[in-house]
Amino acid sequence: MANKILVTGGAGYIGSHTAVNLIENNYEVIIVDNLSNSEEKIIDGIEKITGIRPEFYQFDLCDIKKTNNFFAKHTDIKAIIHFAAYKAVGESVSLPLKYYHNNIASLINILQNMTDFNIPNLVFSSSCTVYGQPEKLPVNENAPIQPANSPYGNTKQISEEMIKDTILSNKNINTIALRYFNPIGAHKSSIIGELPIGVPNNLIPFITQTVAGLRKELSVFGNDYNTPDGSAIRDYIHIEDLAEAHVIAITRLLEQKNKQNFEYFNLGTGQGNSVLDVINTFEKFTGKTVNYKIVPRREGDVEQVWADTSFANKELNWKAKTSLGNSLLSAWNWEKKLRGIH
Ligand code: UFG
Repeated sequence: MANKILVTGGAGYIGSHTAVNLIENNYEVIIVDNLSNSEEKIIDGIEKITGIRPEFYQFDLCDIKKTNNFFAKHTDIKAIIHFAAYKAVGESVSLPLKYYHNNIASLINILQNMTDFNIPNLVFSSSCTVYGQPEKLPVNENAPIQPANSPYGNTKQISEEMIKDTILSNKNINTIALRYFNPIGAHKSSIIGELPIGVPNNLIPFITQTVAGLRKELSVFGNDYNTPDGSAIRDYIHIEDLAEAHVIAITRLLEQKNKQNFEYFNLGTGQGNSVLDVINTFEKFTGKTVNYKIVPRREGDVEQVWADTSFANKELNWKAKTSLGNSLLSAWNWEKKLRGIH
């Protein structure tokens, strides 16, 4: 019988791509999502791609009664991938308690139920935000954790600490935290992709919406950074490469191949690209022009960060394969399909 994996936030951007990959690797997927930042049509998309509709429950994991009820009825879950969380850095600065409540309370409820129902495996969505502006680049997993730049970033640091403490008290629980760099792009089918609600915060959906005519122009936040072209540098990883690493992490836990009961890995490409690189590459791969202007730096942005991925490459036997150009092309294909552009 297939191992049953609970994917919280499975209707979201990273969760839905991971659900597809899990199903394709013969896992049984069960999704919990409150649809606060997604739509049920993403579940339809997962079914369309894989031919299998994952079991889906719509509720909020902060609701302790509903969460406890859910776990009491699903005692055969073998592992959890916990994506469900708020993720907008800027919003977290203006609404910190919304972020602390949602991201922390849901994790407490999950860890409590893992303890109560002996669910031994957790893969946790973490972020390179835990490193702040690293002193040494590329940044590896041993770099010091810096004070968080935002309440959002702080919730990721606190979550990692909460998991570590839980594991110290309960040796039966094993966790892999995956520290993402900047996930971009969409599934090759263009059936699922990123669905930002309202004005996108992130660079790639802002570019694709501008080119699709939904936004007048892209603002490039700063060209006075200490980088070769003056714009900020990030490590942009394709969403399908990122999803693949989650399946590998789940398999590693289920096969008990993890070397510690709390492991953490950087998930990036190992390559840094500036905002202007991204715009130029997008134009080259799509043949479209990106209308942009340079504006002052965005508050809270780090200057440059990219991953040392050697630990994940070796230990997980995983490497991001998709080029920046193809990742951007997949994002554009998804936007075109969404907007009915030919
Ligand atoms: N940028 C622009 N214009 C925009 C949007 C972004 O110039 O309209 C720039 C940003 O200033 C930054 C780069 O594009 O230099 C990437 O910005 P994103 O908002 O796409 O991504 P961030 O690196 O700010 O944030 C991402 C995730 C967070 C995570 C963080 C960790 O969205 O969840 O990485 O660094 F915490």
